[in-house]
Amino acid sequence: MARPSLSTTLPTRRLLLRPPRTSDVPTLRRVLRENAEHLRPWSPASTEEGGPSLVSLTQLVTSQRRAWRDDRSYVLLVTDVTTGDIVGRVALSELVRGVFQSAYLGYWIDHRVAGRGLMTEAVSAALGFALGPLGLHRVQAAIIPENAPSLRVAAKTGLREEGLAVRYLKIAGRWQDHRIFAITAEELT
Ligand SMILES: CC(C)(COP(=O)(O)OP(=O)(O)OC[C@H]1O[C@@H](n2cnc3c(N)ncnc32)[C@H](O)[C@@H]1OP(=O)(O)O)[C@@H](O)C(=O)NCCC(=O)NCCS
Repeated sequence: MARPSLSTTLPTRRLLLRPPRTSDVPTLRRVLRENAEHLRPWSPASTEEGGPSLVSLTQLVTSQRRAWRDDRSYVLLVTDVTTGDIVGRVALSELVRGVFQSAYLGYWIDHRVAGRGLMTEAVSAALGFALGPLGLHRVQAAIIPENAPSLRVAAKTGLREEGLAVRYLKIAGRWQDHRIFAITAEELT
């Protein structure tokens, strides 16, 4: 199967999801800085003190584009379809092909536009992409039990709870339990 190229765009009603470009780096850096407090308790995004430097973020975007070409992970910036503003990110990472055909799902949204259903819209599009054109069979998400908004996104996008993984990821400096959710291609509505 032909893999989706780096010119892929996923339009939704209010958003356009697309791979990051190095020209996004200054804006992305500003958005990450402005959301550092919002992301710190829940997400591995932007763990560097004061936010990532231009150099490290450029390296990150370059490596994300290489990983896309190599079918290792697919990072999508979530942008406003009208203004083009970067409002978040959805990542399908650590792909395993063969008999697993699986990826991990991660996401965050700018706190200024949270609570409007935007991440539900973005995750739905990303799941359609993963289980459709990417040919994956399973996508998994791991959520800290206290992360109520993320648990709602999982429920609204059809992710099925599988159980609790103890001390699963080191977030905000602590090995934290996570609730594991997944969806397989058969379940995509
Ligand atoms: C999780 C996150 C991406 C959700 O983005 P979003 O665009 O606000 O999501 P949506 O608007 O689609 O849905 C959020 C839901 O959570 C609900 N919610 C928001 N705050 C809540 C709270 N404190 N308690 C309970 N529910 C809450 C909203 O009401 C909405 O549910 P509803 O549609 O039933 O009303 C966003 O909060 C975020 O970026 N958090 C920080 C990073 C993060 O946690 N990433 C995920 C790691 S697993």
